[in-house]
Amino acid sequence: MSPLAQLPPVLLEWYDRCARTLPWRSDPTPYHVWVSEIMLQQTRVAAAMEYYLRFLQALPDVQALASCPEDRLMKLWQGLGYYSRARSLQKAAKQIVEEFAGEFPQELEAIRSLAGVGDYTAGAIASIAFGQAAPAVDGNVLRVVSRLTDDHRSVGEPKVKREITAAVQKVIPLDRAGDFNQALMELGALICLPNGDPLCSQCPARDFCLGRQAGTARALPVKPAKKPRKIQRRNVYLIVYHDRVAIRRRPSRGLLAGLWEFPNEPAPWPCPVEGQREPAGEGKHVFTHIEWRMEAFLVKAFHSRLPEGWVWAGREELESVYTIPSAFGAFLPTVERELNRAQG
Ligand code: ADE
Repeated sequence: MSPLAQLPPVLLEWYDRCARTLPWRSDPTPYHVWVSEIMLQQTRVAAAMEYYLRFLQALPDVQALASCPEDRLMKLWQGLGYYSRARSLQKAAKQIVEEFAGEFPQELEAIRSLAGVGDYTAGAIASIAFGQAAPAVDGNVLRVVSRLTDDHRSVGEPKVKREITAAVQKVIPLDRAGDFNQALMELGALICLPNGDPLCSQCPARDFCLGRQAGTARALPVKPAKKPRKIQRRNVYLIVYHDRVAIRRRPSRGLLAGLWEFPNEPAPWPCPVEGQREPAGEGKHVFTHIEWRMEAFLVKAFHSRLPEGWVWAGREELESVYTIPSAFGAFLPTVERELNRAQG
């Protein structure tokens, strides 16, 4: 019997004993599963948890999400990164309201038609929320399966991913499809760890895992080489006037679209707000394909005139209205110190 065919009973037995108690597992409605899976696409379970709970409290259903004002939505997502996920989430909520009469669609193809929902997420919702025998193959599952079957092909190849997905599909237990998919993810998150040593001695598949037998598990999966990130220099201007700081909205397309930022430019720049200027440290932020190397300047403004579209934000507004991405986090202590000083 192939190792994949041997997996379901021992994996489910392990899952029943060892699975983490997670908020989206206790009441797996399609909405809950969907929101959690979108958050978990680029964020670890431990980091996503508090966001998930807050998000659900603020937007308990599809209707609330569909009608949420954009700035409030961004605020709920602040710190999670990859903000286009939140925009797609809302776009899909509007689709559900308009095209599916507000009822979450059940059919795999219909779920897949929602904005931001790919094969993985569609399979996760169909199986976890609706009990359908659809595969849900993400990076964790690719790692687990390539180790289990000692598969040295590149998981970056669409053909390889399709074949692994088909192989998983064949062994999904019809009565526990959602648990099986989550158990595969859970095994990848807790035992079959990336980067370094998998905890093979605790693994329910240890007796028949081909990667373990061959001693290749830790070297798998084979991944395509990553392109190096583009490095961009940014000069960042922390322009303060009494108890407020100047911010502006980013363009509506591209990196961090529509979020707010401290004015910044690729090269030294004649700051359009005159003031007394001093160095305010450096910062670095790594995005998927780009890395920002930032040099900041504190500008104590002589006047309150601002260019079109910029606004003066006080402490409370920074807290509750404007979403400043974490990329600028290195400079928040300086800004807070200056605003507090003025406010006394
Ligand atoms: N990663 C992505 N989805 C997950 C889930 N449902 N359980 C555990 N880890 C996950």
